[in-house]
Amino acid sequence: MSSTRKTINHDPFNFILVPPTIKAIYFCSVASVSLILYFGLSNHPHYFTQHHNLVLPTIFNHRKITTVNDSDKTNISHILFGIGGSVKSWNKRRHYIDLWWKPNVTRGFIWLDQKPSPNITWPETSPEYKVSADTSRFKYSCWYGSRSAIRIARIVKESFELGFENVRWFVMGDDDTVFFTDNLVTVLAKYDHNQMYYIGGNSESVEQDVIHSYTVAYGGGGFAISYPLAAELVRVLDGCIDRYDAFYGSDQKVRGCLSEIGVPLTKELGFHQVDIRGSPYGLLAAHPVAPLVSLHHLDYVEPMFPGLTPIDSVKKLVRVYKMDPGRTLQHSFCYDLRRNWSVSVSWGYTVQLYPSLVTAKNLETALETFQTWRSWEMGPYTFNTRSVSPDPCKRPLVYFLDRVESVGGDETLTMYKRYAEKEEKDCLQRDYIAALKVQFFNVSASNFKPNLWEKAPRRQCCEIIDGGDGVQNVVLLKVRGCNRFESVTPPI
Ligand SMILES: *[C@@H]1O[C@H](CO)[C@@H](O)[C@H](O)[C@H]1NC(C)=O
Ligand SMILES: *[C@@H]1O[C@H](CO)[C@@H](O)[C@H](O)[C@H]1NC(C)=O
Ligand SMILES: *[C@@H]1O[C@H](CO)[C@@H](O)[C@H](O)[C@H]1NC(C)=O
Ligand SMILES: *[C@@H]1O[C@H](CO)[C@@H](O)[C@H](O)[C@H]1NC(C)=O
Ligand SMILES: *[C@@H]1O[C@H](CO)[C@@H](O)[C@H](O)[C@H]1NC(C)=O
Ligand SMILES: *[C@@H]1O[C@H](CO)[C@@H](O)[C@H](O)[C@H]1NC(C)=O
Repeated sequence: MSSTRKTINHDPFNFILVPPTIKAIYFCSVASVSLILYFGLSNHPHYFTQHHNLVLPTIFNHRKITTVNDSDKTNISHILFGIGGSVKSWNKRRHYIDLWWKPNVTRGFIWLDQKPSPNITWPETSPEYKVSADTSRFKYSCWYGSRSAIRIARIVKESFELGFENVRWFVMGDDDTVFFTDNLVTVLAKYDHNQMYYIGGNSESVEQDVIHSYTVAYGGGGFAISYPLAAELVRVLDGCIDRYDAFYGSDQKVRGCLSEIGVPLTKELGFHQVDIRGSPYGLLAAHPVAPLVSLHHLDYVEPMFPGLTPIDSVKKLVRVYKMDPGRTLQHSFCYDLRRNWSVSVSWGYTVQLYPSLVTAKNLETALETFQTWRSWEMGPYTFNTRSVSPDPCKRPLVYFLDRVESVGGDETLTMYKRYAEKEEKDCLQRDYIAALKVQFFNVSASNFKPNLWEKAPRRQCCEIIDGGDGVQNVVLLKVRGCNRFESVTPPI
């Protein structure tokens, strides 16, 4: 699959120029590697399970709140992660976990199908592993799925039964889920952990939601279950697994059970299953006004940065995220009215320059650089998209993150560099020729305060500080909170 991927052009705007026959070959090679993915919600590899000596506590009420003040703000220590993994996928996927796992800070386990070979030394920097209990007694009847779904569905129960203290949230994810934990905490801290919450997001591809349900929090994007809900869930989960034996995925089985309890999905827009194919550029460059919580399926989409591998791309994003977690991928738009330019910044990732005045409504709509997950079609998606024109005069100039610097501790300077495929033709219209001089954007921004996410969401504003006059090839821009009565409104 990876050799096929290399032949695909990295230019996010070139994918529609790939002839249908090449797309078909690409699809078939992926399909032959894993038919499961064709229908898949998530991509747990599929192996049989073995019993392992779990220490099962006899008492399930572990909320011995002795020294703990329950009204303290939720932090990373209050989360117990349960990651669905397998011995076979561990070596390929651990790079994704190592990106976000903080030894002795994040709590939780990766749950494996069997004990790793004794000649493997388990890295200290990775989450400890546990081996899931035997699931052979359960029913599974989804013809295109895998029994491993049962094992993964039971992770929340096996995690709960470990009886850890001071757990407010059980957060489930796959071994190829990348969590942005600061933002995960920001999101969970908004909710009262003493109530029953089920938080996550669903698939971007409508075909997936039709097959697997709109009301499931998709496991690859990760989801959170509050302690009191987990307590109710574990009581009925094993029965649900047999009742919902025809469901494909672990996340659907958990969801079936939550329907019995009567708790709906609370959607948070920062959880990303990434059920798309092709280039994720358009999706990432149009993040909703919500903190980025997770990314998934990064081995199944084009790398998010041109010229980098999938893992190096996400490493680059994680580096900039650490400088200002809350701002990562956040959108801002500004106009340069001297030249009738529109600029769209997706902080930490990309800048788009349009040599015309484009409406905010258009700018916030994702460019469709991708296809659907299952059938590789042009939509529909659970969000709006706008198509990418094959005409270079109708596309923006694109800049990708090049460098990031911290300025004075509470500000960042991110620098974005023009990117164009070698064979890509430039638009030769007059307004484009002026814009083509711009090779860089330098974007300054003060650090995004996490408490901003406790307020009503609003996209931040930006202003062009120095347009460069066509002499310099750098445009300086500042992202900041909007002033009163400030809007992205062109003078008509
Ligand atoms: C718990 O913390 C809150 C806020 O941090 C404080 O107002 C309250 O007095 C504390 N309660 C106890 C019992 O320490
Ligand atoms: C999280 O809050 C608890 C109190 O509920 C505190 O004991 C713990 O040290 C905090 N952890 C972090 C990483 O701040
Ligand atoms: C985690 O903490 C333990 C006990 O304090 C310590 O021995 C170990 O070196 C720590 N691990 C890392 C990776 O910091
Ligand atoms: C580990 O041991 C198994 C046999 O027990 C062997 O097949 C495998 O090659 C060994 N792996 C490594 C990394 O040494
Ligand atoms: C910008 O657009 C407006 C409205 O179309 C037009 O009147 C004006 O001349 C343009 N300015 C420049 C510098 O092109
Ligand atoms: C833009 O940022 C880079 C990186 O910090 C810096 O070297 C360069 O001087 C800046 N350009 C301008 C015009 O400020």
